[in-house]
Amino acid sequence: MTSSAELRRRYVEELFGEGLLPDADVVRAFGTVPREEFVAYGFHAGGDRWAGPTDPDFLTMVYRNHPLVTKIVDGVPVSSSSQPSLMAAMIEGLDLRPGTRVLEIGVGTGYNAALMATMGARVTAVDIAPDVVDRARAALARIGLADVVDVRLGDGYLGEPANAPYDRVIVTVGLTGVSPRWLDQLAPGGFVLAPVEHAGNHPVLRIWPGRSGVGEVRGLLRAGFMSAAGPLAARYPGGFPEPRRVGEFPDPTVRQPARWRPPLDVFRYHDLWFAVGAWDRRTTFSAGPVGGWGGPGGCVLLDEDHGGGAGLLADGSVQAAGVRANRYAAEALALRDRWVARGQPEISDWSARLAPAGVPDRPILVPTGWIQR
Ligand SMILES: C[S@@+](CC[C@H](N)C(=O)[O-])C[C@H]1O[C@@H](n2cnc3c(N)ncnc32)[C@H](O)[C@@H]1O
Repeated sequence: MTSSAELRRRYVEELFGEGLLPDADVVRAFGTVPREEFVAYGFHAGGDRWAGPTDPDFLTMVYRNHPLVTKIVDGVPVSSSSQPSLMAAMIEGLDLRPGTRVLEIGVGTGYNAALMATMGARVTAVDIAPDVVDRARAALARIGLADVVDVRLGDGYLGEPANAPYDRVIVTVGLTGVSPRWLDQLAPGGFVLAPVEHAGNHPVLRIWPGRSGVGEVRGLLRAGFMSAAGPLAARYPGGFPEPRRVGEFPDPTVRQPARWRPPLDVFRYHDLWFAVGAWDRRTTFSAGPVGGWGGPGGCVLLDEDHGGGAGLLADGSVQAAGVRANRYAAEALALRDRWVARGQPEISDWSARLAPAGVPDRPILVPTGWIQR
């Protein structure tokens, strides 16, 4: 059987082999921390299967660039070890130095906290679920990091005042808005990296206290995350519509032809999708059947009053449904062409301001007024 160290070496090659000059400390951390210690209670391996350490293919599955779902409640995944390439990109985005004080919201398995601690960061990590906290603490203790990472039980909305201030806050669970407490707990020059709902996805945004107003935001990278519990995932007036599941979007009756052959790759498609969301708050995700989407789903402009709308596919074609299908198809085409006319901006080309939303005693700060930089 191939050893953990050898599988980890190949995993690091897969993660960073073709990357653009990855940070050597990030590469070293992924090559050092044994991911299997953080999924010792197993993970969901597809269908009805729960894979555990006694399975012969356990280590092979652990050392893949896949998220590993470690807890499911009522059929909904609520905790996981996130996708390694996404963790690597976020950690790189933190620009850590030895001694950097980091607050992580959503400790999950503890693997991400261990990676950051291995790079010399002083990590405080919060999770809302007691069993998750216990297991993360145990895993960190097994690899000798119990005294380096302070794992706390609580709602991440509150941050963790006990160890504040922090140079960085990293959030590893999907939000509809940012907690003002995190900005209050930042040291001067600090910033937050958080996946904040935008058009049915959770792109990672970089957020910092503003010179005027409550804060400023910049797009960083495309991502998908499970949703947070509590006020961090509050719906608010004027927010994006909730994603549509399979079967919730009617069959298309209007079809407009493709613009791109081959279609945009997944990164460019998400750049287009982000821009459409920045210009139009009716944008969300639909898991199908718009345009015959299966699996990953795609971008729709939702006609919420009339149960239809328009889907914009990666090849630039548009498929619309419902009583206003023609109008929606025309609007989706106009948004697509606007993105082209603006030079096909990437997610990182957008910035916004933060504005308060949510309930009065637990407000969240949401990005508003997106502009292309
Ligand atoms: C995707 S997992 C985090 C992955 C983790 N960083 C790792 O390395 O394994 C998301 C975690 O966020 C936690 N969570 C959800 N809502 C939360 C909240 N309001 N405050 C703190 N943690 C929360 C969940 O219990 C779950 O463990």
